[in-house]
Amino acid sequence: MIYLYGHVRNFSVAETPEGEISACCALAPVWEDLGEICSLVVRDDLRRQGLGRRMVAACLEECRELHLKKIFALTYQEVFFARLGFRVVDKSVLPQKIWVDCAHCAKYPDCDETAVFLDVPGTLETATGK
Ligand SMILES: CC(C)(COP(=O)(O)OP(=O)(O)OC[C@H]1O[C@@H](n2cnc3c(N)ncnc32)[C@H](O)[C@@H]1OP(=O)(O)O)[C@@H](O)C(=O)NCCC(=O)NCCS
Repeated sequence: MIYLYGHVRNFSVAETPEGEISACCALAPVWEDLGEICSLVVRDDLRRQGLGRRMVAACLEECRELHLKKIFALTYQEVFFARLGFRVVDKSVLPQKIWVDCAHCAKYPDCDETAVFLDVPGTLETATGK
């Protein structure tokens, strides 16, 4: 519960026309230029219709507002993230995540999730080629 209250402001949700929640996703800033996509879920009966892609796009838009140039996720859904341009990386390139969260996780150090990473497109730096 304490985790939910601590992170509730990170969440975006999508609604059906009837006002039911159809998807959620959180963007957690992890470092000055690095964000994490967390808790991405699309309702079972609404999958494969582009909603997951739209939730990640909303996170990327927020990254641009917050000047986060890089984003990652720990996931079992490598193929989904690959379709969105993410690449698989070794978790050792995400030391901040290891310090903040992983060290407290029951799975640590044998996490079976895959780390996927993306340079956020459309930031000032990438747009100007710097
Ligand atoms: C992963 C998840 C969020 C995807 O949501 P979705 O709305 O079905 O995804 P989209 O329809 O936006 O799919 C985007 C692309 O990924 C592909 N894709 C989606 N899920 C896929 C899967 N499980 N395996 C392979 N490809 C997949 C789609 O075919 C689509 O491809 P395209 O580029 O040809 O259009 C959803 O399956 C889910 O909620 N899973 C359970 C929770 C979970 O694992 N979340 C991830 C935590 S990090």
